[in-house]
Amino acid sequence: MNPSALSEVAEQVHGKTDGLTICVVDPDKSTVVVLEEMLEEFGFSAVATSDPQEALDYVSGGRFRVVLCGMQMPRAAGTAFLEQALQRDPGIYVIVMTDFYSIESAIDVIKRGAYDYLPKPIDKARLKKTLDDLAAQFQQRRLVRELEEKLLNNLEFHGIVGRSPAMLEVFDLMRKISRHYTNVLLTGQTGTGKELIANALHQMSPVSTRRLAVCNCSAVVDTLIESELFGHVRGAFTGATDTRPGLFEYADGGTVFLDEVADTSLAMQAKLLRVIQNREIQRVGSPEVSHVDVRLIAATNRDLGAEVLAGRFREDLYYRLNTVNIRVPSLAERLEDIPLLVAFFIKKYNEEYHKRIQGLTRRAQTALLQHAWPGNVRELENVISGASLVAATDFIDIHDLPIQVQRPPGHRTKGDAWRPVPLQDVRKEHIRRVLEVCGGNRVRASQMLGIGRTSLYRYLKRKGKINGAEGADAT
Ligand SMILES: Nc1ncnc2c1ncn2[C@@H]1O[C@H](COP(=O)(O)OP(=O)(O)OP(=O)(O)O)[C@@H](O)[C@H]1O
Ligand SMILES: [Mg+2]
Repeated sequence: MNPSALSEVAEQVHGKTDGLTICVVDPDKSTVVVLEEMLEEFGFSAVATSDPQEALDYVSGGRFRVVLCGMQMPRAAGTAFLEQALQRDPGIYVIVMTDFYSIESAIDVIKRGAYDYLPKPIDKARLKKTLDDLAAQFQQRRLVRELEEKLLNNLEFHGIVGRSPAMLEVFDLMRKISRHYTNVLLTGQTGTGKELIANALHQMSPVSTRRLAVCNCSAVVDTLIESELFGHVRGAFTGATDTRPGLFEYADGGTVFLDEVADTSLAMQAKLLRVIQNREIQRVGSPEVSHVDVRLIAATNRDLGAEVLAGRFREDLYYRLNTVNIRVPSLAERLEDIPLLVAFFIKKYNEEYHKRIQGLTRRAQTALLQHAWPGNVRELENVISGASLVAATDFIDIHDLPIQVQRPPGHRTKGDAWRPVPLQDVRKEHIRRVLEVCGGNRVRASQMLGIGRTSLYRYLKRKGKINGAEGADAT
Protein backbone atom coordinates (compact mmCIF):
# COMPACT_ATOMS: atom_id res chain seq x y z
CA MET A 1 0.00 0.00 0.00
CA ASN A 2 1.46 3.41 -0.86
CA PRO A 3 2.16 5.86 1.96
CA SER A 4 -0.67 8.26 1.18
CA ALA A 5 -3.25 5.43 1.10
CA LEU A 6 -1.76 4.24 4.38
CA SER A 7 -2.11 7.58 6.06
CA GLU A 8 -5.65 7.83 4.71
CA VAL A 9 -6.57 4.57 6.44
CA ALA A 10 -4.88 5.75 9.60
CA GLU A 11 -6.65 9.11 9.36
CA GLN A 12 -10.06 7.40 9.02
CA VAL A 13 -9.38 5.17 11.97
CA HIS A 14 -7.88 7.92 14.05
CA GLY A 15 -10.74 10.30 13.37
CA LYS A 16 -13.27 7.67 14.40
CA THR A 17 -12.45 7.19 18.05
CA ASP A 18 -9.52 9.47 18.92
CA GLY A 19 -8.77 6.64 21.34
CA LEU A 20 -7.71 3.08 20.93
CA THR A 21 -7.04 2.15 17.34
CA ILE A 22 -6.23 -1.47 16.72
CA CYS A 23 -4.49 -3.22 13.87
CA VAL A 24 -5.54 -6.85 13.53
CA VAL A 25 -3.25 -9.29 11.74
CA ASP A 26 -3.79 -13.01 11.37
CA PRO A 27 -2.80 -15.29 8.50
CA ASP A 28 -6.28 -16.81 8.57
CA LYS A 29 -8.73 -14.56 6.71
CA SER A 30 -11.84 -15.81 8.52
CA THR A 31 -10.22 -15.17 11.94
CA VAL A 32 -9.45 -11.64 10.77
CA VAL A 33 -13.11 -11.04 9.93
CA VAL A 34 -14.32 -12.50 13.25
CA LEU A 35 -11.84 -10.42 15.26
CA GLU A 36 -12.66 -7.24 13.39
CA GLU A 37 -16.37 -7.71 14.12
CA MET A 38 -15.62 -8.50 17.76
CA LEU A 39 -13.60 -5.30 18.18
CA GLU A 40 -16.31 -3.22 16.51
CA GLU A 41 -18.79 -4.78 18.93
CA PHE A 42 -16.53 -3.74 21.85
CA GLY A 43 -16.63 -0.20 20.50
CA PHE A 44 -13.05 -0.01 19.20
CA SER A 45 -11.86 0.95 15.74
CA ALA A 46 -9.94 -1.65 13.80
CA VAL A 47 -8.13 -2.15 10.52
CA ALA A 48 -7.50 -5.77 9.64
CA THR A 49 -5.17 -7.61 7.32
CA SER A 50 -3.90 -11.13 6.78
CA ASP A 51 -0.57 -9.88 5.46
CA PRO A 52 2.10 -9.37 8.19
CA GLN A 53 4.10 -7.03 5.92
CA GLU A 54 1.07 -4.78 5.49
CA ALA A 55 0.57 -4.79 9.26
CA LEU A 56 4.21 -3.73 9.73
CA ASP A 57 3.66 -0.88 7.29
CA TYR A 58 0.70 0.22 9.39
CA VAL A 59 2.92 0.13 12.48
CA SER A 60 5.54 2.26 10.69
CA GLY A 61 2.76 4.73 9.88
CA GLY A 62 2.76 5.39 13.61
CA ARG A 63 -0.98 5.85 14.25
CA PHE A 64 -1.82 2.40 15.58
CA ARG A 65 -1.08 1.99 19.21
CA VAL A 66 -2.24 -1.62 19.51
CA VAL A 67 -1.66 -4.66 17.31
CA LEU A 68 -3.64 -7.83 17.79
CA CYS A 69 -1.49 -10.48 16.21
CA GLY A 70 -2.43 -14.11 15.52
CA MET A 71 0.56 -16.35 15.91
CA GLN A 72 -0.86 -19.25 14.02
CA MET A 73 2.24 -18.91 11.95
CA PRO A 74 5.23 -20.88 13.26
CA ARG A 75 6.48 -19.38 16.54
CA ALA A 76 9.74 -18.14 15.03
CA ALA A 77 7.82 -16.15 12.40
CA GLY A 78 5.44 -14.84 15.09
CA THR A 79 8.24 -13.61 17.34
CA ALA A 80 10.03 -12.14 14.34
CA PHE A 81 6.86 -10.14 13.63
CA LEU A 82 6.75 -8.99 17.27
CA GLU A 83 10.39 -7.90 17.18
CA GLN A 84 10.02 -6.03 13.91
CA ALA A 85 6.87 -4.27 15.11
CA LEU A 86 8.65 -3.14 18.28
CA GLN A 87 11.65 -2.05 16.28
CA ARG A 88 9.47 0.10 14.04
CA ASP A 89 7.53 1.55 16.96
CA PRO A 90 8.92 0.98 20.45
CA GLY A 91 5.75 2.48 21.92
CA ILE A 92 3.39 -0.04 20.31
CA TYR A 93 1.39 -2.58 22.32
CA VAL A 94 1.32 -6.02 20.74
CA ILE A 95 -1.19 -8.60 21.97
CA VAL A 96 -0.27 -12.02 20.68
CA MET A 97 -2.83 -14.82 20.16
CA THR A 98 -1.75 -18.41 19.69
CA ASP A 99 -3.08 -21.91 19.01
CA PHE A 100 -0.18 -23.40 20.97
CA TYR A 101 -0.40 -21.72 24.36
CA SER A 102 1.95 -22.78 27.15
CA ILE A 103 3.19 -20.97 30.25
CA GLU A 104 6.72 -21.26 28.95
CA SER A 105 5.92 -19.71 25.58
CA ALA A 106 3.83 -17.01 27.29
CA ILE A 107 6.80 -15.97 29.43
CA ASP A 108 9.06 -16.00 26.39
CA VAL A 109 6.73 -13.81 24.31
CA ILE A 110 6.10 -11.34 27.15
CA LYS A 111 9.85 -11.11 27.76
CA ARG A 112 10.30 -10.22 24.12
CA GLY A 113 8.08 -7.21 24.64
CA ALA A 114 4.49 -8.39 23.98
CA TYR A 115 1.83 -6.71 26.12
CA ASP A 116 -0.29 -9.85 26.51
CA TYR A 117 -0.44 -13.42 25.25
CA LEU A 118 -3.83 -15.03 24.73
CA PRO A 119 -4.72 -18.61 23.81
CA LYS A 120 -7.01 -19.34 20.87
CA PRO A 121 -9.92 -19.71 20.52
CA ILE A 122 -10.19 -16.23 21.91
CA ASP A 123 -12.03 -15.81 25.18
CA LYS A 124 -14.15 -12.78 24.29
CA ALA A 125 -14.44 -11.49 27.87
CA ARG A 126 -10.69 -11.81 28.46
CA LEU A 127 -9.85 -9.94 25.26
CA LYS A 128 -12.34 -7.20 26.12
CA LYS A 129 -10.82 -6.82 29.58
CA THR A 130 -7.28 -6.57 28.18
CA LEU A 131 -8.34 -3.91 25.68
CA ASP A 132 -10.45 -1.99 28.22
CA ASP A 133 -7.46 -1.91 30.60
CA LEU A 134 -5.26 -0.58 27.82
CA ALA A 135 -7.83 2.05 26.86
CA ALA A 136 -8.00 3.17 30.51
CA GLN A 137 -4.20 3.36 30.62
CA PHE A 138 -4.13 5.54 27.50
CA GLN A 139 -6.86 7.74 28.88
CA GLN A 140 -4.90 8.19 32.09
CA ARG A 141 -1.77 9.08 30.15
CA ARG A 142 -3.65 11.59 28.06
CA LEU A 143 -4.89 13.24 31.23
CA VAL A 144 -1.36 13.36 32.62
CA ARG A 145 -0.11 14.90 29.36
CA GLU A 146 -2.87 17.51 29.46
CA LEU A 147 -1.98 18.32 33.05
CA GLU A 148 1.70 18.57 32.15
CA GLU A 149 0.84 20.94 29.35
CA LYS A 150 -1.17 23.12 31.72
CA LEU A 151 1.68 22.94 34.19
CA LEU A 152 4.08 23.96 31.45
CA ASN A 153 2.08 27.13 30.87
CA ASN A 154 2.25 27.90 34.57
CA LEU A 155 5.89 27.02 34.95
CA GLU A 156 7.03 29.18 32.09
CA PHE A 157 8.34 32.47 33.34
CA HIS A 158 8.59 34.98 30.49
CA GLY A 159 9.52 32.17 28.10
CA ILE A 160 11.95 30.60 30.57
CA VAL A 161 11.01 27.06 31.55
CA GLY A 162 11.88 25.83 35.02
CA ARG A 163 10.43 24.47 38.23
CA SER A 164 13.56 23.44 40.11
CA PRO A 165 14.17 25.29 43.37
CA ALA A 166 17.34 26.75 41.81
CA MET A 167 15.40 28.26 38.90
CA LEU A 168 12.50 29.40 41.08
CA GLU A 169 15.09 31.32 43.06
CA VAL A 170 16.35 32.92 39.86
CA PHE A 171 12.77 33.91 38.90
CA ASP A 172 12.27 35.32 42.39
CA LEU A 173 15.39 37.45 42.16
CA MET A 174 14.37 38.64 38.69
CA ARG A 175 10.98 39.72 40.01
CA LYS A 176 12.59 41.59 42.88
CA ILE A 177 15.17 43.50 40.87
CA SER A 178 13.41 44.01 37.53
CA ARG A 179 11.88 47.33 38.55
CA HIS A 180 14.94 48.79 40.20
CA TYR A 181 18.22 47.61 38.70
CA THR A 182 20.63 49.81 36.80
CA ASN A 183 23.41 47.22 36.38
CA VAL A 184 22.99 43.45 36.49
CA LEU A 185 25.59 40.77 35.95
CA LEU A 186 24.42 37.40 34.62
CA THR A 187 26.84 34.55 35.14
CA GLY A 188 26.54 30.89 34.30
CA GLN A 189 27.92 28.24 31.98
CA THR A 190 27.35 28.35 28.26
CA GLY A 191 23.77 27.54 27.19
CA THR A 192 22.13 28.06 30.61
CA GLY A 193 19.79 30.77 29.33
CA LYS A 194 21.54 34.05 30.16
CA GLU A 195 20.39 35.75 26.98
CA LEU A 196 16.83 34.58 27.60
CA ILE A 197 17.00 36.04 31.10
CA ALA A 198 18.43 39.33 29.82
CA ASN A 199 15.49 39.64 27.43
CA ALA A 200 13.02 38.81 30.18
CA LEU A 201 14.60 41.36 32.54
CA HIS A 202 14.14 44.05 29.93
CA GLN A 203 10.53 43.00 29.28
CA MET A 204 9.78 43.08 33.01
CA SER A 205 11.41 46.47 33.56
CA PRO A 206 9.61 49.83 33.50
CA VAL A 207 11.49 50.60 30.24
CA SER A 208 10.11 47.59 28.36
CA THR A 209 8.58 49.79 25.68
CA ARG A 210 12.00 51.32 24.96
CA ARG A 211 14.81 49.69 23.04
CA LEU A 212 16.94 46.74 24.05
CA ALA A 213 20.32 46.94 22.27
CA VAL A 214 22.48 43.85 22.25
CA CYS A 215 26.23 43.75 21.77
CA ASN A 216 28.03 40.44 21.65
CA CYS A 217 31.46 41.63 22.76
CA SER A 218 33.24 38.49 21.59
CA ALA A 219 31.83 38.72 18.09
CA VAL A 220 32.98 42.27 17.42
CA VAL A 221 36.69 42.84 16.84
CA ASP A 222 38.34 44.93 19.48
CA THR A 223 39.07 47.88 17.24
CA LEU A 224 35.42 48.20 16.25
CA ILE A 225 33.72 47.60 19.56
CA GLU A 226 34.27 51.15 20.83
CA SER A 227 32.59 52.66 17.79
CA GLU A 228 29.84 50.01 17.94
CA LEU A 229 29.02 50.94 21.53
CA PHE A 230 29.72 54.67 21.60
CA GLY A 231 29.44 55.69 17.95
CA HIS A 232 31.92 57.73 15.94
CA VAL A 233 32.24 60.97 14.04
CA ARG A 234 33.03 61.25 10.37
CA GLY A 235 36.72 60.77 9.63
CA ALA A 236 37.48 59.32 13.08
CA PHE A 237 39.20 56.34 11.43
CA THR A 238 39.64 54.89 7.98
CA GLY A 239 36.23 53.83 6.75
CA ALA A 240 34.30 56.19 9.06
CA THR A 241 32.59 57.94 6.17
CA ASP A 242 29.74 59.31 8.24
CA THR A 243 28.88 60.22 11.83
CA ARG A 244 27.01 57.46 13.62
CA PRO A 245 25.53 56.99 17.07
CA GLY A 246 26.47 53.84 18.99
CA LEU A 247 24.36 51.29 20.81
CA PHE A 248 24.26 53.29 24.04
CA GLU A 249 22.68 56.27 22.30
CA TYR A 250 20.40 54.02 20.27
CA ALA A 251 19.12 52.43 23.48
CA ASP A 252 18.88 55.69 25.41
CA GLY A 253 15.96 55.36 27.81
CA GLY A 254 16.06 51.55 27.47
CA THR A 255 18.53 48.73 28.07
CA VAL A 256 21.94 47.73 26.75
CA PHE A 257 22.84 44.05 26.95
CA LEU A 258 26.61 43.42 26.86
CA ASP A 259 26.98 39.74 26.15
CA GLU A 260 30.32 37.96 26.79
CA VAL A 261 31.58 41.04 28.65
CA ALA A 262 34.73 39.20 29.79
CA ASP A 263 35.97 39.23 26.21
CA THR A 264 36.51 43.00 26.17
CA SER A 265 40.02 44.47 26.36
CA LEU A 266 41.24 46.26 29.48
CA ALA A 267 41.11 49.57 27.58
CA MET A 268 37.47 48.96 26.68
CA GLN A 269 36.70 47.98 30.26
CA ALA A 270 37.92 51.43 31.42
CA LYS A 271 35.41 53.04 29.08
CA LEU A 272 32.62 50.78 30.29
CA LEU A 273 33.43 51.74 33.86
CA ARG A 274 32.93 55.38 32.92
CA VAL A 275 29.46 54.64 31.52
CA ILE A 276 28.51 52.74 34.63
CA GLN A 277 29.80 55.37 37.02
CA ASN A 278 28.69 58.53 35.25
CA ARG A 279 26.38 57.34 32.47
CA GLU A 280 28.67 59.29 30.14
CA ILE A 281 29.79 58.38 26.64
CA GLN A 282 32.03 59.87 24.00
CA ARG A 283 31.79 59.11 20.28
CA VAL A 284 35.10 57.96 18.77
CA GLY A 285 36.88 61.02 17.38
CA SER A 286 34.69 63.50 19.26
CA PRO A 287 35.70 65.56 22.30
CA GLU A 288 32.05 65.92 23.28
CA VAL A 289 30.73 64.01 26.26
CA SER A 290 27.06 63.12 26.29
CA HIS A 291 24.81 61.71 28.91
CA VAL A 292 22.82 58.49 28.42
CA ASP A 293 20.11 57.02 30.57
CA VAL A 294 20.37 53.26 30.13
CA ARG A 295 20.04 50.11 32.16
CA LEU A 296 22.94 47.77 31.71
CA ILE A 297 22.85 44.00 31.70
CA ALA A 298 26.18 42.23 31.29
CA ALA A 299 26.67 38.49 30.87
CA THR A 300 29.57 36.09 30.87
CA ASN A 301 30.14 32.35 31.01
CA ARG A 302 33.59 32.86 32.50
CA ASP A 303 34.48 33.06 36.16
CA LEU A 304 34.93 36.83 36.42
CA GLY A 305 36.61 36.59 39.84
CA ALA A 306 39.27 34.36 38.29
CA GLU A 307 39.60 36.71 35.32
CA VAL A 308 40.29 39.54 37.78
CA LEU A 309 42.96 37.47 39.53
CA ALA A 310 44.52 36.65 36.19
CA GLY A 311 44.70 40.37 35.40
CA ARG A 312 42.38 40.10 32.44
CA PHE A 313 39.41 41.92 33.96
CA ARG A 314 39.39 45.20 35.87
CA GLU A 315 38.61 44.70 39.51
CA ASP A 316 36.72 48.02 39.85
CA LEU A 317 34.49 47.15 36.88
CA TYR A 318 33.91 43.69 38.33
CA TYR A 319 32.68 45.15 41.64
CA ARG A 320 30.52 47.70 39.87
CA LEU A 321 28.89 45.05 37.70
CA ASN A 322 28.62 42.51 40.45
CA THR A 323 26.37 44.55 42.76
CA VAL A 324 23.43 42.56 41.43
CA ASN A 325 24.48 39.13 40.26
CA ILE A 326 22.17 36.47 38.92
CA ARG A 327 23.97 33.17 38.79
CA VAL A 328 22.14 30.88 36.37
CA PRO A 329 22.54 27.26 37.51
CA SER A 330 23.90 24.65 35.13
CA LEU A 331 21.48 21.99 33.90
CA ALA A 332 23.34 19.36 35.93
CA GLU A 333 22.37 21.32 39.05
CA ARG A 334 18.67 21.17 38.12
CA LEU A 335 18.03 17.80 36.52
CA GLU A 336 14.40 18.04 37.70
CA ASP A 337 13.85 20.67 34.98
CA ILE A 338 14.72 18.19 32.22
CA PRO A 339 11.23 16.60 31.77
CA LEU A 340 9.61 20.02 31.58
CA LEU A 341 12.21 21.36 29.17
CA VAL A 342 11.84 18.22 27.05
CA ALA A 343 8.05 18.70 26.88
CA PHE A 344 8.61 22.36 25.96
CA PHE A 345 11.08 21.55 23.16
CA ILE A 346 8.98 18.66 21.83
CA LYS A 347 6.04 21.03 21.51
CA LYS A 348 8.23 23.64 19.83
CA TYR A 349 9.72 21.22 17.30
CA ASN A 350 6.43 19.42 16.64
CA GLU A 351 5.12 22.75 15.42
CA GLU A 352 8.28 23.56 13.49
CA TYR A 353 8.65 20.17 11.80
CA HIS A 354 4.92 19.29 11.62
CA LYS A 355 5.47 16.16 13.70
CA ARG A 356 3.34 14.43 16.33
CA ILE A 357 6.02 13.32 18.81
CA GLN A 358 4.31 12.52 22.09
CA GLY A 359 7.26 11.85 24.34
CA LEU A 360 10.29 9.72 25.00
CA THR A 361 10.60 6.01 25.65
CA ARG A 362 11.60 5.20 29.19
CA ARG A 363 15.15 4.24 28.24
CA ALA A 364 15.59 7.49 26.30
CA GLN A 365 14.38 9.43 29.36
CA THR A 366 16.88 7.59 31.54
CA ALA A 367 19.72 8.42 29.13
CA LEU A 368 18.84 12.13 29.31
CA LEU A 369 18.96 12.07 33.09
CA GLN A 370 22.35 10.35 33.10
CA HIS A 371 24.06 12.68 30.65
CA ALA A 372 26.39 15.39 32.01
CA TRP A 373 25.05 18.23 29.77
CA PRO A 374 28.22 20.31 29.33
CA GLY A 375 26.32 22.47 26.81
CA ASN A 376 23.37 22.84 29.23
CA VAL A 377 19.89 23.78 27.94
CA ARG A 378 21.21 24.65 24.48
CA GLU A 379 22.60 21.13 24.16
CA LEU A 380 19.31 19.64 25.37
CA GLU A 381 17.39 21.72 22.85
CA ASN A 382 19.71 20.57 20.05
CA VAL A 383 19.29 16.95 21.13
CA ILE A 384 15.48 17.15 21.15
CA SER A 385 15.36 19.07 17.90
CA GLY A 386 17.60 16.49 16.18
CA ALA A 387 15.77 13.53 17.69
CA SER A 388 12.36 14.97 16.70
CA LEU A 389 13.58 15.14 13.13
CA VAL A 390 14.90 11.60 12.92
CA ALA A 391 12.33 9.78 15.11
CA ALA A 392 10.41 7.38 12.88
CA THR A 393 7.54 7.00 15.36
CA ASP A 394 5.65 9.17 17.83
CA PHE A 395 8.15 8.37 20.58
CA ILE A 396 11.80 9.42 20.65
CA ASP A 397 13.85 6.34 21.41
CA ILE A 398 17.43 5.91 22.54
CA HIS A 399 18.69 5.42 18.96
CA ASP A 400 17.37 8.84 18.01
CA LEU A 401 19.73 10.48 20.52
CA PRO A 402 23.36 11.39 19.72
CA ILE A 403 25.92 8.74 20.67
CA GLN A 404 27.39 10.75 23.57
CA VAL A 405 23.92 11.01 25.15
CA GLN A 406 23.10 7.32 24.62
CA ARG A 407 26.05 6.29 26.76
CA PRO A 408 25.95 6.97 30.48
CA PRO A 409 29.00 8.78 31.90
CA GLY A 410 31.85 6.53 32.87
CA HIS A 411 30.47 3.85 30.62
CA ARG A 412 33.36 2.89 28.45
CA THR A 413 32.86 0.92 25.31
CA LYS A 414 35.72 -0.62 23.41
CA GLY A 415 35.77 2.32 21.01
CA ASP A 416 36.18 4.65 23.97
CA ALA A 417 39.12 2.97 25.57
CA TRP A 418 42.39 4.83 25.56
CA ARG A 419 44.55 4.16 22.56
CA PRO A 420 47.91 5.65 21.69
CA VAL A 421 46.56 7.83 18.86
CA PRO A 422 48.38 10.83 17.35
CA LEU A 423 47.79 14.09 19.21
CA GLN A 424 46.22 15.70 16.16
CA ASP A 425 43.48 13.03 16.14
CA VAL A 426 42.66 13.76 19.77
CA ARG A 427 42.58 17.47 18.93
CA LYS A 428 40.32 16.88 15.93
CA GLU A 429 37.83 14.77 17.93
CA HIS A 430 37.86 17.21 20.85
CA ILE A 431 37.14 20.19 18.60
CA ARG A 432 34.38 18.24 16.85
CA ARG A 433 32.70 17.45 20.18
CA VAL A 434 32.96 20.97 21.54
CA LEU A 435 31.46 22.32 18.30
CA GLU A 436 28.63 19.81 18.67
CA VAL A 437 27.95 20.96 22.24
CA CYS A 438 27.89 24.57 21.02
CA GLY A 439 25.41 23.73 18.27
CA GLY A 440 28.05 24.55 15.63
CA ASN A 441 28.60 28.09 16.91
CA ARG A 442 32.31 28.75 16.40
CA VAL A 443 32.49 31.83 18.57
CA ARG A 444 31.20 29.91 21.57
CA ALA A 445 33.32 26.88 20.71
CA SER A 446 36.50 28.96 20.62
CA GLN A 447 35.64 30.36 24.06
CA MET A 448 35.11 26.88 25.46
CA LEU A 449 38.32 25.65 23.92
CA GLY A 450 40.15 28.64 25.32
CA ILE A 451 41.61 29.58 21.95
CA GLY A 452 41.16 32.63 19.77
CA ARG A 453 38.30 32.74 17.30
CA THR A 454 40.67 33.22 14.40
CA SER A 455 42.73 30.18 15.45
CA LEU A 456 39.60 28.04 15.32
CA TYR A 457 38.57 29.50 11.96
CA ARG A 458 42.05 28.85 10.61
CA TYR A 459 41.96 25.28 11.87
CA LEU A 460 38.52 24.61 10.36
CA LYS A 461 39.50 26.23 7.11
CA ARG A 462 42.59 24.07 6.92
CA LYS A 463 40.39 21.03 7.45
CA GLY A 464 38.04 22.28 4.76
CA LYS A 465 35.11 22.72 7.17
CA ILE A 466 34.46 26.32 6.13
CA ASN A 467 34.93 28.15 2.88
CA GLY A 468 35.93 31.59 3.93
CA ALA A 469 32.48 32.40 5.39
CA GLU A 470 34.14 33.61 8.57
CA GLY A 471 32.01 35.32 11.12
CA ALA A 472 28.82 34.08 9.49
CA ASP A 473 27.71 32.54 12.73
CA ALA A 474 29.14 35.03 15.13
CA THR A 475 26.00 35.15 17.18
N1 LIG B 1 14.99 27.74 30.90
C1 LIG B 1 14.88 27.70 29.56
N2 LIG B 1 13.68 27.50 29.00
C2 LIG B 1 13.57 27.45 27.65
N3 LIG B 1 14.60 27.58 26.79
C3 LIG B 1 15.81 27.78 27.31
C4 LIG B 1 16.03 27.86 28.71
N4 LIG B 1 17.33 28.08 28.93
C5 LIG B 1 17.91 28.14 27.73
N5 LIG B 1 17.02 27.96 26.74
C6 LIG B 1 17.30 27.91 25.30
O1 LIG B 1 18.63 27.41 25.16
C7 LIG B 1 19.37 28.14 24.19
C8 LIG B 1 20.58 28.78 24.83
O2 LIG B 1 20.18 29.81 25.73
P1 LIG B 1 20.95 31.21 25.83
O3 LIG B 1 21.44 31.65 24.49
O4 LIG B 1 20.12 32.17 26.59
O5 LIG B 1 22.22 30.72 26.69
P2 LIG B 1 23.45 31.55 27.25
O6 LIG B 1 23.51 31.31 28.70
O7 LIG B 1 23.36 32.97 26.77
O8 LIG B 1 24.68 30.80 26.56
P3 LIG B 1 26.12 31.40 26.12
O9 LIG B 1 26.91 31.66 27.38
O10 LIG B 1 26.73 30.29 25.32
O11 LIG B 1 25.86 32.63 25.31
C9 LIG B 1 18.40 29.14 23.59
O12 LIG B 1 17.82 28.58 22.43
C10 LIG B 1 17.34 29.31 24.68
O13 LIG B 1 16.11 29.67 24.11
MG1 LIG C 1 24.58 34.12 25.50
